[in-house]
Order: sequence, then structure tokens, then C-alpha cells
Amino acid sequence: MSSVFGNKLKVSVFGQSHGAGIGVVVDGFPAGEQIDMDRLDAFMARRRPGGKHATKRRESDRPRFLSGIEDSKTCGFPLCVVIDNEDTRSKDYKAFGDTPRPSHADYTAFVKYGGNADMRGGGHFSGRLTAPLCAAGGIAIQILEKRGIKVGAHLLMAAGLYDLPFDPVRAGELDKLEGKEFPCINDAVAEKIKLKIEEAAAQGDSIGGIIECAIVGLPAGVGEPMFGGIENRLASAVFGIPAIKGVEFGAGFACASMRGSQNNDPFEIKDGRVMTRTNNHGGSLGGISSGMPIILRAAVKPTPSILIEQDTVRLSAMVPAKVQITGRHDPCVALRAVPCIEAVCALTVLDMLIEDGRI
Ligand SMILES: Cc1cc2nc3c(=O)[nH]c(=O)nc-3n(C[C@H](O)[C@H](O)[C@H](O)COP(=O)(O)O)c2cc1C
Repeated sequence: MSSVFGNKLKVSVFGQSHGAGIGVVVDGFPAGEQIDMDRLDAFMARRRPGGKHATKRRESDRPRFLSGIEDSKTCGFPLCVVIDNEDTRSKDYKAFGDTPRPSHADYTAFVKYGGNADMRGGGHFSGRLTAPLCAAGGIAIQILEKRGIKVGAHLLMAAGLYDLPFDPVRAGELDKLEGKEFPCINDAVAEKIKLKIEEAAAQGDSIGGIIECAIVGLPAGVGEPMFGGIENRLASAVFGIPAIKGVEFGAGFACASMRGSQNNDPFEIKDGRVMTRTNNHGGSLGGISSGMPIILRAAVKPTPSILIEQDTVRLSAMVPAKVQITGRHDPCVALRAVPCIEAVCALTVLDMLIEDGRI
């Protein structure tokens, strides 16, 4: 099972949604990094369930640091964070072993693990596994910030409603997102999206969305050609978050319908450094960072568990069947996935900087 990523900074996520607990082991954080634990808690709170727009599962998600951090300072040894599972209702999931939920991992897990996987609450596939990822990522974000590198994301689109995009050249909007209760730059759009999420939830349905992430202040020269590119590494980590179905950088798929004269980003010298006037390349050229902001967008599918009756199959009898999902689910995964994207991007960039000998 591949729940481990990173080369010099090795991140290993463990646990199941309805087991005793979930957690993460991170080997390779630099020693002596002072961590603001209140800020870390505030970061994790952005992913925590609760409120009108998320699952009704009540989880305090209090991380217990078993090792690697003493007096709020990294000590150089492997960091181990454990989060207890508190509010489990496993009976809601009993039927899905035989009648798999469309678009969830019930069927593929059944095939792969021969019915042995603990799939209560989605098992190891649950979005809950992103809580420890956020604990690790929240630490990485703080370590990067001390080096002038900022990672931030927002909900760019949900239900067809668009937030203001990041200015790809400066991504100065990152500062406006700090402390926001809802992760949109434009508060008026946020209010409209909230209504759409409530509407979908009231109908027992769900919606998807697009998350846009910016990494600002990353020096030029980080990354390798071909398979070790910064795009490859970030995309691989982002696809590790459940429900992500697409990742694009810079102009992304839109560049396919541009001319070279429109897509190319002219170089210029500003304040003594090489920059590009536009940033259609999204901060990566040949897999290597250009020094411009890394701009990444991730497509998040609508939550698979909806309360509307759906067609499925009964695996034990190999006949058509219906599945009626009960239980508590997020009406819009994209909302809670915003800090998860920030977390994996920060961990990936930190890993690449350590590999490069820059940290
Ligand atoms: C933060 C977060 C919360 C999620 N909450 C739910 C949920 O409540 N119900 C659900 O069916 N899927 C939820 N998901 C998505 C599923 O975990 C995911 O769709 C499933 O594991 C299948 O994986 P895939 O969509 O990547 O193929 C959540 C994902 C994330 C990142």
C-alpha cells in the first residue's frame, strides 16, 4: 500500500476512518524549527468537520505529538502525530461491502483486498486521512514561511461560480485569504457558493469544485527534468488527496488553444532579477522552478456519497441492486480539501528544497 511519499522528507500516513485512530510519521524535518502550535491548530481547523457546509461527523481532530517535537520545536527525530477517531457510526457502512457506492472506492477495494479491507467510514480511502496530512503540512508551511516561501489556496470555482483568480505574476491575493472563514477571495462569491452547497445538501446531492494553489517565493532552479519535475512531484502529491480528478499548472489546458505568441511569457529584468511578464508557464519550465509563482489548479469531484438512491450491483449474487446511502457526508469535498492541497504542496516543496541542499 503506497501511503508514503517524499524522498528526503518521508511522509507516511496511517489509519482507517473508524479504527482507533489515524496519524502520520514524518522523517526528515530539519531540527530546531520553532513551530507556532496555535497557528498549526488554526490551520487544521480549516479542514475539521463542522458547520453547515461540511459533514455532521463531530471530530475534534486534536493531534497528539508522540515524537519529533519538544517544547514546540522540531528535534530532528521522526515526527509522529496521532489523532483519535471519536465519532464513528460504522453501521452506516455495513451494506457497501456487497453493494458498492458508485464513485467511491468500495468496489476497487473489494477487488484488491478480497473483502478484507476495513472499509468502515471509507477505511483508508476516507477524506479523514487528510487530517494528519494537514498536521504535517501545517508544520512544513511554517518552515517554508521562515524562508520567504508562502503556500496558499482558495476555492476558485464551485457550482459554476468563480472566485477571483490569483494574479499569476504576483499572487498577492494570498494575504487577503488569511483568517477567512470561507476560502474565497471575493466574499460575495463565497456567500453565493454557500447557498449552492446548502441547496445541494438539502436535495441529498453534492457538488464538485476547483481549488487554485499558489507557491510564492520559491527560488529558480528547483526540480529535475522529465520525471523528477516540480510539476510531476506536486501533481503526484495532490492526486494523493481523495476526490482529486485533475491537476493543471499555469494556463494549463487553456494553453492548448493558444498561439505561441499568446502563451509565451516574455522575460524581463525587474529589481535585478529575471522574471516573466506573464506566467502561463505556472512557475515551471522543463520541470524546474523559474522563480515565478507556481500556480496549480486541482479539480475536485462531487462527493460520491449522496443520499439519492443509486444503481449498483450486489456482488455476492452478481445481480443489479439499489444503494441508499445514509450516514454523514460532505456536500462539497472541495471546500475542506483547500488546506489539504496547501499541506501536500508545502511538504513536496520542502522535500525538494532539502534534496537540493537548500535547507
Ligand atoms: C476532506 C475530504 C472529505 C471527504 N468527505 C467525503 C464524504 O463525506 N463522503 C464521501 O463519499 N467522500 C468523501 N471524500 C472523498 C472520498 O474519500 C473519495 O472520493 C474516495 O476515497 C474515492 O477516491 P477518488 O475519488 O480519489 O477516486 C472526501 C475527501 C476529502 C479530501
